[in-house]
Amino acid sequence: MAVIYEEFEAMKRFIEFTDEDAQNLASLASVVESHGPALTDHFYETLESVPETAKIIEGRVESLKKTHRQYMKELTAGDYGEAYFERRARIGQVHVQMGIDPRFVEGVMSVIRAGMLKAMAETYTEPAELAAKSSSFIKLCDLDLAIINLAYNEERLDRFSEFTGMKRKLIENVITLPKR
Ligand code: HEM
Repeated sequence: MAVIYEEFEAMKRFIEFTDEDAQNLASLASVVESHGPALTDHFYETLESVPETAKIIEGRVESLKKTHRQYMKELTAGDYGEAYFERRARIGQVHVQMGIDPRFVEGVMSVIRAGMLKAMAETYTEPAELAAKSSSFIKLCDLDLAIINLAYNEERLDRFSEFTGMKRKLIENVITLPKR
């Protein structure tokens, strides 16, 4: 089963991701323009720093950097509707299908978050403005990660169901049963 758009919209409401957040994010386009390439380089240096991820990206770092720069631009494109969701869900599926351990996805998202917060702190001196823009950026990173994690969850449940022959619903009931 695939992650569905309604779940994304529900998550946006839950974390109070508003039009103001979208506007704050759009205003960060120039920060991504100036600091994004260095951040992308750091992202892949981090993936190259451990053998588990280094071997997966070996020989294709330059082409991956191109898609990553595009990913960074989309974070500040100001439109976080269905098309945005579809692109993020696809990123989730791509990583699940490659069998990438999700802890590394969580880990490198931290590189994006921390790198952008540092870049914003160098750009905006007014504390309230910096806080508002940082908050919007963190919310979007969390939303992206939520979609990617949901994709992992769906794929794992599907694989377990296929392998064991157990119905999806039964597996979901078992894992959500409160443990006394
Ligand atoms: C926040 C975390 C991550 C983001 C935002 C991200 C972003 C992306 C994007 C945008 C693509 C292109 C997807 C497409 O074809 O539509 C991609 C592909 C890829 N990513 Fe990531 N990535 C993340 C984590 C990782 C990690 C931890 C690895 C581990 C090595 C990794 C390795 C790859 C590889 C090998 C591809 C190429 C897939 C293919 O086309 O065969 N990524 N990533």
